[in-house]
Amino acid sequence: MNRDIPGFSLQRMPVYLNYLRSLPDDDAYTYVSSGAIAQALGLGEVLVRKDLAYTGCAGRPKVGYPRAELIAALEQFLCIHDHKGAVLVGAGGLGSALLGYGGFANYGIELVCAFDNDPHKVGGIVGGKPVLSVDSLEAGCMEYGVQLAIIAVPAASAQGIAERLIRAGIRAILNFAPVQITAGEDVKVINIDVAANLAILASML
Ligand code: NAI
Repeated sequence: MNRDIPGFSLQRMPVYLNYLRSLPDDDAYTYVSSGAIAQALGLGEVLVRKDLAYTGCAGRPKVGYPRAELIAALEQFLCIHDHKGAVLVGAGGLGSALLGYGGFANYGIELVCAFDNDPHKVGGIVGGKPVLSVDSLEAGCMEYGVQLAIIAVPAASAQGIAERLIRAGIRAILNFAPVQITAGEDVKVINIDVAANLAILASML
């Protein structure tokens, strides 16, 4: 993947892909213009063209992008065809919802298992995935050969879990706990905070 792309452009790539995939499979959508994409997604047309240039798929003047080619270019850009496993730590309310979510497959990602420290949950199946003891976190990550992890434990445990995940070879963490995770430069961390995003929206009203 092109690592020189600005973060915000990278974040929009799955949005473009979702939108293009959602269009009907008929002749009217064989080509899609940057203007149509921009309008549908509430973005500027120039921005859309700049973002899509990173995929290497060229638009044709007055015609637009060949949709199938652009989808393939975005899928390649996002490495969707390289199957990637991910683990989840914390099979509680949020973790269980994520374990049952089928949308990861759209991006070539499979949640392979969860880890938890609640003896009532360990050994169970949630969303079709096994819940393993957090005691086996390192061994499990190495056995599954995963590099992606989701943290959905209480804030107080999140940093410790992150450090164990990193020692076990995890290179990218999606953190839902309301705490900043400190990780080395070679580990990517994205913090998701629904409440903060709602607050941002509220401030725009
Ligand atoms: P929950 O209490 O339902 O689930 C937490 C799970 O983590 C439980 O299954 C518990 O047994 C497990 N756990 C606790 N300590 C552990 C440890 N040291 N090792 C392994 N497992 C451990 O909580 P919920 O509602 O699922 O939230 C999970 C986290 O996500 C919390 O930090 C919460 O604040 C956060 N959250 C974040 C949201 C966001 O927008 N970012 C939205 C909702 C929750």
